[in-house]
Amino acid sequence: MKQANLRGKWALVTGASSGLGVDFANNLASRGSNVLLVARREDRLRAVQQEITAQYGVQVEVIAMDLESADAPQRLYDQLKAGGRAVDVLINNAGFGLYGDFLEIPWERERAMLELDIVTLTHMTKLFVKDMVARRFGYVLLVASIGAYQPSPTYATYSAAKSYVLFFGEALHYELRKTGVNVTVVSPGVTKTEFLEVAGQQPSLYQRTMMMDSPDVTRIAIDALLKGKASIVPGYKNAALAQSTRLMPRQLAALTADRFMRMGSAK
Ligand SMILES: NC(=O)c1ccc[n+]([C@@H]2O[C@H](COP(=O)([O-])OP(=O)(O)OC[C@H]3O[C@@H](n4cnc5c(N)ncnc54)[C@H](OP(=O)(O)O)[C@@H]3O)[C@@H](O)[C@H]2O)c1
Repeated sequence: MKQANLRGKWALVTGASSGLGVDFANNLASRGSNVLLVARREDRLRAVQQEITAQYGVQVEVIAMDLESADAPQRLYDQLKAGGRAVDVLINNAGFGLYGDFLEIPWERERAMLELDIVTLTHMTKLFVKDMVARRFGYVLLVASIGAYQPSPTYATYSAAKSYVLFFGEALHYELRKTGVNVTVVSPGVTKTEFLEVAGQQPSLYQRTMMMDSPDVTRIAIDALLKGKASIVPGYKNAALAQSTRLMPRQLAALTADRFMRMGSAK
């Protein structure tokens, strides 16, 4: 697939009020794309809007919305449709994890996480991809995690949710290969954002050693998206780890992941 010119296109970035989402929006704006920023914290979104507008001179719009509720993707889609706004690039990034033993995590938090990380992401993809296929142009990035590559005790439900994202996205990449729409899954390793704070984990020794910067992760992801790749694990150490865990017996991979998460973590 030829690398697209995004000048004047519109990219919708979910979870654009902090972390990777802010850097996805900046990266796309630096390539000339207009951006739609979606998350719950409107003040944060407005600050990102101001920065991007000042730096890149592209159009930036803000929609403050809680994407956890079941009807949110349809409401967002309808709102954009009513305003005549076509989405050319969808960055399905909003998400969070929950750290801890499965039995200790409150069900309501876990249900909300599964809703956002799986159901919302899938519904958003279904709604926006249909229009992209009709126009024979579009790019969809799904944010999974390196945790998708193995069973991960202490992140059991989160990493399983991200395995869903990885396999859903890779399958969809194949299904859509002749439509002009590219789907790429990015599986970041630990990255400096608000993720660990939201998840309730102090970084472990492994995480402190492997931590990547968000602008690097997002640049690698957008490059892979525009090159038409099915999947990418940013950072050569993370990529090697993801591949090696695929070759191990899965219970050994689970043991390794458990050690990596707990060793040197205050919690
Ligand atoms: N950082 C890592 O180590 C890492 C590694 C692998 C994968 N990831 C994945 O990367 C993605 C981005 O996370 P991050 O690391 O950038 O963490 P972050 O800094 O906590 O950002 C998460 C973003 O998601 C938004 N969000 C959360 N709940 C939402 C909701 N109900 N409705 C709308 N937006 C919501 C947050 O905005 P509001 O709070 O304003 O709504 C925020 O903008 C997630 O899918 C995460 O699982 C992160």
